[in-house]
Amino acid sequence: MCSNHGNRGVVYQGPGKVEVQNIPYPELALGGRKCDHGVILKVVSTNICGSDQHMVRGRTTAPAGLVLGHEITGLVVECGRDVEFVKPGDLVSVPFNIACGRCRNCKEGKTGICLNVNPARPGAAYGYVDMGGWVGGQAEYVMVPYADFNLLKFPDKDQAMEKIRDLTLLSDIFPTGFHGCVTAGVGPGSTVYIAGAGPVGLAAAVSAQLLGAACVIVGDMIDDRLAQARSFGCETIDLKQEGDIADKVEAILGVPEVDAFVDCVGFEAHACGCHHHEEKPATVLNSAMQLTRAGGQIGIPGLYVTEDPGAIDEAAKVGALSMRFGLGWAKSHSFHTGQCPVMKYHRQLMQSILFDKVQIAKAVNVQVISLDQAPNGYAEFDGGAATKYVIDPHGMVAA
Ligand SMILES: NC(=O)c1ccc[n+]([C@@H]2O[C@H](COP(=O)([O-])OP(=O)(O)OC[C@H]3O[C@@H](n4cnc5c(N)ncnc54)[C@H](O)[C@@H]3O)[C@@H](O)[C@H]2O)c1
Ligand SMILES: [Zn+2]
Ligand SMILES: [Zn+2]
Repeated sequence: MCSNHGNRGVVYQGPGKVEVQNIPYPELALGGRKCDHGVILKVVSTNICGSDQHMVRGRTTAPAGLVLGHEITGLVVECGRDVEFVKPGDLVSVPFNIACGRCRNCKEGKTGICLNVNPARPGAAYGYVDMGGWVGGQAEYVMVPYADFNLLKFPDKDQAMEKIRDLTLLSDIFPTGFHGCVTAGVGPGSTVYIAGAGPVGLAAAVSAQLLGAACVIVGDMIDDRLAQARSFGCETIDLKQEGDIADKVEAILGVPEVDAFVDCVGFEAHACGCHHHEEKPATVLNSAMQLTRAGGQIGIPGLYVTEDPGAIDEAAKVGALSMRFGLGWAKSHSFHTGQCPVMKYHRQLMQSILFDKVQIAKAVNVQVISLDQAPNGYAEFDGGAATKYVIDPHGMVAA
């Protein structure tokens, strides 16, 4: 057994602070719960996400001491007794959602709201507040439960290591951006507005192109991120500038509306124009209803919470936002929220990477860093860098 290994991971220490610390080597168990269906992974790559930033900024009830990391790719080093089809030596992508494969929702493919992996509510993830207490994977080693169900094995390890900067994005943001577009109804010839040019927004923009969109418009207030979106053929809207967003869309498309809208911002949304330093949590949802054509669909991968200690007002502290819902109703809009069920998409998107149909790492500007550089990566990402930080705990990606 490998339990004589040490382990190190990125630990949340309180608002604005993460540290790399010694943490226990994973067991095939969680608390008192046995995980004979699980495997131990040697982590090959693990990405920092905007979802982690909500916790690290102190905008959730995440406790200090939480080991972070839900975007994991790794090598199987040990299999539990009940694992049948995954083998030591397999190189695998881990969906960030933890799913049992046995409950009603898993059977319907809704793996983001599995009923058996989190006593507090449907849905679980590694290293995340309120998500079942599973230990995060921004570490050297991590345990993955229900391995036969959850893991996606790469067909050829050498080929996969060559494309690991792209494949590492299959654990979350590529499927999440794609899901945002699918649930917004993006298809051939669509006009699409993507709110947010962070890694998820950029992944959604690439996904819209992959789905055949005619025109993809990305809105943000960070210049470098907008430039990143233009680098692969998107139109952009600089939300620091004054003026109505519909007029800006009209200047690009000739009409003040789009077929499909994807919210890749979430509850820490900022106001537009001269107030762009101020938070306005419902602003993207309201823009969605303003800009989406009657009968259109709105994909909302951006995260909204039930508890936000740092919110601007009492209502927002429990996730109650001031939406003009009547407008969406009048326009017969459909809204799609929630965790992306990664498993629905990861195999197809892996194929699009392996057959060179998409350049996702380039689009989101992947930068590989060591585990010890993680605190710095968090700080730069929080500062708005147009970069997706990928932690390489064993130097396997760099090599
Ligand atoms: N549903 C899921 O399964 C899932 C998975 C991954 C991430 N997420 C969520 O997706 C969101 C984006 O993730 P990310 O990693 O790109 O985060 P990020 O913080 O890097 O990106 C958010 C971007 O939104 C921009 N922004 C702020 N206000 C805006 C506005 N009014 N209009 C347009 N842009 C605005 C910010 O400047 C920033 O560039 C987060 O809320 C994250 O938690 C959800
Ligand atoms: Zn993520
Ligand atoms: Zn389940």
